[in-house]
Parts: sequence; structure tokens; C-alpha cells
Amino acid sequence: MDRRLLTLAALGATLAWSAPSAAQGQLNLYCSVQIEWCQAIATNFQRDTGIRVNMTQRGSGETLAAIRAEAQNPRGDVWFGGTGDPHLAAAEENLTQAYESPNNGQLQTWALTQWRQSNQRAIGVYAGAVGFGFNTELLARKNIAPPTCWADLLDPRFRGEIQVANPNSSGTAYVIIATLVQLMGEDQAFAYMRRLHPNVNSYARSGTGPIKAVARGETGVSLSFVHDAVTERNAGFPVAYNTPCEGTGYEIGSMSILRGARNLTQARRFYDWALTEPAQRLGFEAGGQLQTPSNRNAPLPQGAPDLSQIRLIEYDFAKYGRAAERRRLIERWDREVGALPR
Ligand code: G6P
Repeated sequence: MDRRLLTLAALGATLAWSAPSAAQGQLNLYCSVQIEWCQAIATNFQRDTGIRVNMTQRGSGETLAAIRAEAQNPRGDVWFGGTGDPHLAAAEENLTQAYESPNNGQLQTWALTQWRQSNQRAIGVYAGAVGFGFNTELLARKNIAPPTCWADLLDPRFRGEIQVANPNSSGTAYVIIATLVQLMGEDQAFAYMRRLHPNVNSYARSGTGPIKAVARGETGVSLSFVHDAVTERNAGFPVAYNTPCEGTGYEIGSMSILRGARNLTQARRFYDWALTEPAQRLGFEAGGQLQTPSNRNAPLPQGAPDLSQIRLIEYDFAKYGRAAERRRLIERWDREVGALPR
């Protein structure tokens, strides 16, 4: 065989090898869980189906903003993970579309409640509760007792010691605001956040920024989803968590198919796949994440916070997932808390 034929043969082999994936098409995945989990689902789905995945990881609030901005020319196909409220807002704003998966029957009630409340546009993939993460070594060194109640956080012993995220970009931060409003009443919750401000050293962009800062010893305390505290502890950092004595809020981490998805068949295939038990195990097994999975057959990861043992409020997802309510509360936060001098 001369050289040219060899090259052609090699080219043919390459084409033949890549053909299945080309035939299966591609998927533009917007992902709002931690990067390790996003990468694990992208790689595994691609391996299982031959569908090429282009993944973009961003916070829940940031993803909602991107989807709004792209509404006339949607670039994403499916949005996996992130707190449930912005998924509900997207559903209401007609930025996502209804879908009924054959795998719905395997899901927990709370996952299906989210699906019904969103007119079949958002579905629960996991749940997690809000609490306080803290660096045990740093607090011990400074002789600061860890917080156990929301009221404790106002104590001067935490001055400059607390970190929380910014609700414009982070769904976690919005869940915290909505939780405080539901626990205390709106005006009291904003008064509380203004009093908390001197104890807050920074409003991070990402929901997991504060717990990572706790892990690195840059701040003593974070307001976080408590499963993220366990992830840091499992990675070897001196991190522990408490859940607030007065009660706390939680998220129904969700998934939606975007309106105008160009790869709708692949988006539905991903959606069905992401609800299966093996896919839901990946969060922990490949990504080190410790949320409560929505598939009833997927086990609660070892060491994960057990939501049935946490004092949870009756979080009003319908109300706080409403687009106008979300916008109003975040604007009020910007004016009354975010804009306060340091
Ligand atoms: C982390 C948590 C998730 C949560 C997400 C929200 O990944 O483990 O449970 O849904 O943060 O991120 P955000 O940056 O929007 O607060």
C-alpha cells in the first residue's frame, strides 16, 4: 500500500470509529452542581450513549440569567442541578418546557411535587438542607464556640468571621434569604441580615465558595448546604456543621429542559438517564457529593446529612420560586444588605 492509501485507510478508520458518536449527536448541558459532579455526569452520559456533551458549569442564579439572555436564541438544551427556586422561575417565564419521563415512577414524592408545581417543567434530582459550616481548628484556636442557632450568628464573637454567598449569582444564598423570611417574617429577616452584616467578611459569588473558604481556614463559619460541609470534611479538611436550632430551609435541586432546545431528543435522553439509580449514584461515587438523591432506589451516601433528622421548615417552593418574588427579594437584599458599607 502506498503512503496515500495508508493515510486514507487511517482516515477511514478514524471516521468509522467516531461515527457512532456523530450519529448520536450532541447535548449542550448547563450544570449548576459542583464541577466534579458536572464532569462525572458529562463523561458517563457520553460513554453510555455516544452523545457528545458540551458542559457549562455556573451557579443557579447565573444560569437563570444566561437562559433569560439567550431566550431568543437558546444555546443550552438541558439544565442539570442547582437550587429549585430558579428552575421554578424559569418554568413560569416560559424558558423551559414540559416533559414526562418514563422514570418518574422511581422518584421521591418531593421530586414529583416540584414537577407538578412547575407544570411538568422542573423535576427534583436531589435535596439538601441549609446550615452552618465551620472550621473546627480555627474556631478552637480563637476560642469561639460554634454556632448552633440563627440567633448565635449575631454575636460579636463572630465579627468578620462569617461568609455567605450573593443571591444574585447563587441559588444557595437565595434559599437562605427565603428561609429567614419564612422563619422570622420579611421585615424581621431583613433587620436580621443587616445586623449580621458586620459579622460577614464577604458575599461570595458561588454557593460553595464560603464552605471552601472555611475548609482553607480563611473564615471560621459559612452559611451553606450542610452536605457541602461533609464533602470538605471527606476531602480531609477540619470542617463540621450544625443545623439551626430554630429550624432551617432546604433545596430541591432540579433539572429542566430548555425551551427551544436544539437537541431535544438528546435532552430527553439525558433527562431520563439522570433520573436513573446508577446516574444518581454518580454524585457521590464520582463527584464526592452528599445530597439526598431523588431516585428512591439510590442510597443515601454514607455520611450524608439525614434530612429526616433535621428540623426543616415547610419551605413554600410555590411562593419563593415565583419569578417576581425572587426578583423582589433579591432587589431588596441588594438595597438593604449588599449595599451596606463595610
Ligand atoms: C452546590 C450544592 C448544591 C447546590 C448548588 C447551588 O453545588 O452542593 O446542592 O444546588 O451548590 O449552587 P449556587 O452557586 O447556585 O448556590
